[in-house]
Amino acid sequence: MATIESILQENRVFPPANEFVKHANVAGMEAYQALCQEAERDYTGFWARLAKQYISWHKPFTRVFDDSNLPFYKWFDDGELNVSWNCLDRHLTTQGDKTAIIFESDEGETVRCSYRELHQQVCRFANALKSRGVQQGDRVVIYMPMRIEAVVAMQACARIGAIHSVVFGGFSAKSVHQRIVDAKAVAVITADEQTRGGKHHPLKVTVDKALALGDTDSVHSVIVLQHTHADIVWHSERDHWWHDITADQPDTCEPTWVNAEHPLFILYTSGSTGKPKGVQHSSAGYLLGTITSMQWVFDYQPNDIFWCTADVGWVTGHSYVTYGPLAIGATQIIFEGVPTYPHAGRFWEIIQKHKVTTFYTAPTAIRSLIKLGVDLPKQYDLSSLRLLGSVGEPINPEAWMWYYTTVGQSRCPVVDTWWQTETGSHIIAPIPGAIAAKPGSCTLPLPGIDVAAIDEAGQPIKEGKGGFLVIKRPFPSLLRTLWNDPERFKNTYFPTDVAGGRYYLSGDSAHCDRDGYFWVMGRVDDVLNVSGHRLGTMEIESALVAHPLVAEAAVVGKPHEIKGESIVAFVVLRKELPDKEEAIKIAATLREWVASEIGAIARPEEIRFGENLPKTRSGKIMRRLLRTLAKGEAITQDTSTLENPAILEQLNQAV
Ligand code: WTA
Repeated sequence: MATIESILQENRVFPPANEFVKHANVAGMEAYQALCQEAERDYTGFWARLAKQYISWHKPFTRVFDDSNLPFYKWFDDGELNVSWNCLDRHLTTQGDKTAIIFESDEGETVRCSYRELHQQVCRFANALKSRGVQQGDRVVIYMPMRIEAVVAMQACARIGAIHSVVFGGFSAKSVHQRIVDAKAVAVITADEQTRGGKHHPLKVTVDKALALGDTDSVHSVIVLQHTHADIVWHSERDHWWHDITADQPDTCEPTWVNAEHPLFILYTSGSTGKPKGVQHSSAGYLLGTITSMQWVFDYQPNDIFWCTADVGWVTGHSYVTYGPLAIGATQIIFEGVPTYPHAGRFWEIIQKHKVTTFYTAPTAIRSLIKLGVDLPKQYDLSSLRLLGSVGEPINPEAWMWYYTTVGQSRCPVVDTWWQTETGSHIIAPIPGAIAAKPGSCTLPLPGIDVAAIDEAGQPIKEGKGGFLVIKRPFPSLLRTLWNDPERFKNTYFPTDVAGGRYYLSGDSAHCDRDGYFWVMGRVDDVLNVSGHRLGTMEIESALVAHPLVAEAAVVGKPHEIKGESIVAFVVLRKELPDKEEAIKIAATLREWVASEIGAIARPEEIRFGENLPKTRSGKIMRRLLRTLAKGEAITQDTSTLENPAILEQLNQAV
């Protein structure tokens, strides 16, 4: 680990423009430092002040932080609130007619929804859920297209204290099934189909398949939004149309007041081993993180038109579509489609059309858009933009520069935000009116966040060398546990072999430069980051070996120009090594197999066959050798511990 050297030398610095600082929520370095010092002086007092300032409490808390049972901690735990009330009701008297959501469909039609209208939709749907017998604490799986109703479904769950678990619409029936079973969901909310890039993708059919896989008796209702009017199979005792069950519902619904620590949602994410982990978030602490980051990092201003391009199936869509923007009373864009449909300028067109001020997307999207038209943004009026954001993976300095100069016209600060499903909200990011940006660095931790790059013993790593990126103190929006698996929570995030288990281990490596700026280098565990999406190598390997042709498989990542990383699978078949023609056929079969087992995002880019995998004498697969092979580089590592060195030659042949 400590041998990962940083090769990146980036000397360009972009301090905030005076014009920006003048109106910023955190104006100037002194203002940032003042917040940091406040947190340092009185850590819990700092968070308590913010929780009182930004959250409307039904019953105020008197206890701030409970660390009596670490690593299980609680925040504000005798307070009561409702997250949906905080996102909707509290805006009704002051700005009920303000547009909450500007929805842009795949085909370019626009629907506007005010806070009052959104509130009514959420209440009606919350009442419908109750009428279906969904109760406080029940888990509800949401498998929906990126439309207003996805937000309505999530907010309605929050309103009645049900715990949602959103599954990204691109995941397979198997993945949906796994999540339903692990969470013992009582209901699934879906749509007939979703439309993206002019194509229809089935959702209800996938849910039907998932429910047919067994062990799903907990599910008593499937609620279906009619979207494309596709023909679907109907199970009348179980399936209900969204429009039918909401038709006669009143448009008010008394929120269910829940404890601050009541789980708001579970979101499954890939880990280094085994099945996906159900990251469990609290109500109050999570909400607070989304609000403070909207204020600090996105420098929220009342006239902003905020656009986060993430799907609600990922944490970014949870925090910066469903919760953060609404909690703060913003107007936001929700876009159903893809950046390249019907043309490569779609993102820029939407920014122009709706006068977007704040645009938040992923490096993979930025890189693919550069490729599709370096100068394309110049054909659009992007003068409404005032802030740009990036999330999901390290942004390479050249992509950063393009984003800054071509999209932001060298006028808009770029906030490179480092965080994770587990952290709930931004952790390291440049507060735009205060912190000078360096392309490729997520810069400095937010106030109240204590991060470090350390070695196994917990010592800070020397400048320029990579260390484990850790968070030294629990903060309100950090995950509380893994659903149903507190042991795994402990072992994954607070393992005793790093700094004695005192710190939250992010799974990333990073180094810190002489200005204290953080440079995230990537994962240190077996998690891949493909187009900003987390995938566990183990998950993909398990999918491969579940195929009758496969005896053994090892999966590694390889650098990819657009996706950041792409998947390469090394496969040992149950039969003899295939010839070239057959290998091509089997590779195609296996790629589709993985797509159907997990989802299209997990489809390996490349599959290589061998009679074995490179193993040590104790039988351990040497993945670092496979990584080198995948990159097409010569092996310079020591192979003397290898049981079967000849295998490397075989595995070097791409199909
Ligand atoms: C990576 C997404 C570098 C990182 C919010 C992290 C990043 C994982 C950045 C979390 C960034 C996210 N710079 N790396 N700005 N943002 N990552 O849970 O490896 O889907 O651990 O959350 O993405 O992915 P997740």
